[in-house]
Amino acid sequence: MRTPITDLLGIEHPVVQGGMMWVGRAELAAAVSEAGGLGIITALTQPSPADLVTEVERARTLTDKPLGVNLTILPTIDPPPYEDYVRAIADSGVQVIETAGANPEPFMDLLKDSGLTVLHKCTSVRHAVKAQRIGVDAVSIDGFECAGHPGEDDVPGLILIPAAADALDIPFIASGGFADGRGLAAALVLGAHGINMGTRFMCTTESPVADEVKRGIVEQGELDTVLIFRPLRNTARVAANEVSREVVRILDEGGEFEDVRELVAGSRGRRVFEEGDLDAGIWSVGQSQGLIHDVPAAGDVVRRVVDEAQRVLRRALATG
Ligand SMILES: Cc1cc2nc3c(=O)[nH]c(=O)nc-3n(C[C@H](O)[C@H](O)[C@H](O)COP(=O)(O)O)c2cc1C
Repeated sequence: MRTPITDLLGIEHPVVQGGMMWVGRAELAAAVSEAGGLGIITALTQPSPADLVTEVERARTLTDKPLGVNLTILPTIDPPPYEDYVRAIADSGVQVIETAGANPEPFMDLLKDSGLTVLHKCTSVRHAVKAQRIGVDAVSIDGFECAGHPGEDDVPGLILIPAAADALDIPFIASGGFADGRGLAAALVLGAHGINMGTRFMCTTESPVADEVKRGIVEQGELDTVLIFRPLRNTARVAANEVSREVVRILDEGGEFEDVRELVAGSRGRRVFEEGDLDAGIWSVGQSQGLIHDVPAAGDVVRRVVDEAQRVLRRALATG
């Protein structure tokens, strides 16, 4: 299935596995790339730039097809050494960097000088247009449905994708709420050049999260997510559980970040993924879990999404 995004990224199918903290490791990314999509390793899951290079090398033993690395730039008091990560990404030999979290402008010269293809993920048309202006090669645009940070505008994909198609000249992929071939077909019809999926790829055999988490995604429906941090204007879509509901309650009653800091600690979320205790902390998941009913191999997800998209597009075109 050839589109401007497959041409740009040098891949066979317009299916990307977005960066996922604690989830985007070598096995998963390599499986997606090997099946003809673009697998993305998450930089900050690795404790240091040197560990990231090792992780890319591990993925390279599993596939020689194009790979990407996600670098999520977040405004923190004690930021990770972003420039060192960018240099490590360039030196590691991957072709694509997925930037997210903030405007990548401060890093653009370094990124372009490094020869990386820059795929910037954002959540609004205005940010996508700005990213295009500063010279990114492609945009990934996350709708309100997505796991993680959907922004504060609450515009779902059905509006966001055609609005982005009208505003952008560079290739772009639709993200948030996609889990099957119907989604890919819809995204293409709405004007996107491919899709990005997180939750669907988290629920595959190569995904490093505990089996209980995968079972939880299969059992949970589209109603079982919660938006936390809304009053702090840093909204995140996470699984509905005791902890996320408590965070919402505290902030809605006027609490501040300090009052929920312990509840939302990354170490607790990590326990969910490593130990399979779904109530240990907060963990990102999208509304697309309502469309997920099994735990296939990641390569099978790529293949069947593409097959199904072709089938439903043919069927939609068939007359009489
Ligand atoms: C467990 C998990 C962790 C994520 N971590 C990140 C991250 O660190 N950086 C990022 O840019 N996006 C992150 N995302 C968002 C995904 O890359 C993707 O944009 C999103 O999952 C798309 O929505 P979907 O889950 O409906 O497919 C994460 C998603 C999940 C499910």
